[in-house]
Amino acid sequence: MIDPQLLDRIADALAADGYIILDQVFPVEWLSSLESRATNLRPAQFKSAGIGRELGSQHHVAIRNDEIRWIEENHPVDTQYLVWMEQLRLELNRRLYLGLFDFESHYSHYAPGAYYKKHLDAFRGQSNRIVSTVLYLNKNWQPVDGGELRVYAKDSAHILVDIMPELGRLVIFLSDVFPHEVMQVNRDRYSIAGWFRSNNSSSSRVDPA
Ligand code: OGA
Ligand code: MN
Repeated sequence: MIDPQLLDRIADALAADGYIILDQVFPVEWLSSLESRATNLRPAQFKSAGIGRELGSQHHVAIRNDEIRWIEENHPVDTQYLVWMEQLRLELNRRLYLGLFDFESHYSHYAPGAYYKKHLDAFRGQSNRIVSTVLYLNKNWQPVDGGELRVYAKDSAHILVDIMPELGRLVIFLSDVFPHEVMQVNRDRYSIAGWFRSNNSSSSRVDPA
């Protein structure tokens, strides 16, 4: 069960600011099983990430060159994560009337040299991604390792925050508001990216104040 006070904090932050950065939300045993699963996936179990899955697998290496593996509903480690996200989905709907319909997510691996250039996860009216999540799975990340998630203000002109992808850190933000990028990494970087979606592209949503 997710602590109700944590749920309130997340909902309040999404309504007021549009994003939140959380640490120590998951029990350490959970994190270590997610971390071992991500780091033990063999290279053949990942595939290079495309832009716009719906359009077919176009590989825009100039924009991103990470590799991904979709979360599996029947894998015990993944299920635990999905159960947590399902509760978050229902509680965000209850608190913010977001009409979140489901959650899709994948592991990501950025090999040394990889990056993901500035992008939005959704364009208003054109995508059903409403809320983005990223959980980081890297022990003892250091500034020299690069790979920060750089989040820009809505106007795209100035940097709001640089986030180090440290084990257990969870970032949640409105998908169509914040341009963001993954700075080039100098060390293998693992995470789980996820999106709460509406079941159509014109569902109600909140605007940050
Ligand atoms: C993405 C993304 C951010 C990160 O997969 O869309 O922006 O920090 N990921 O991994
Ligand atoms: Mn993104």
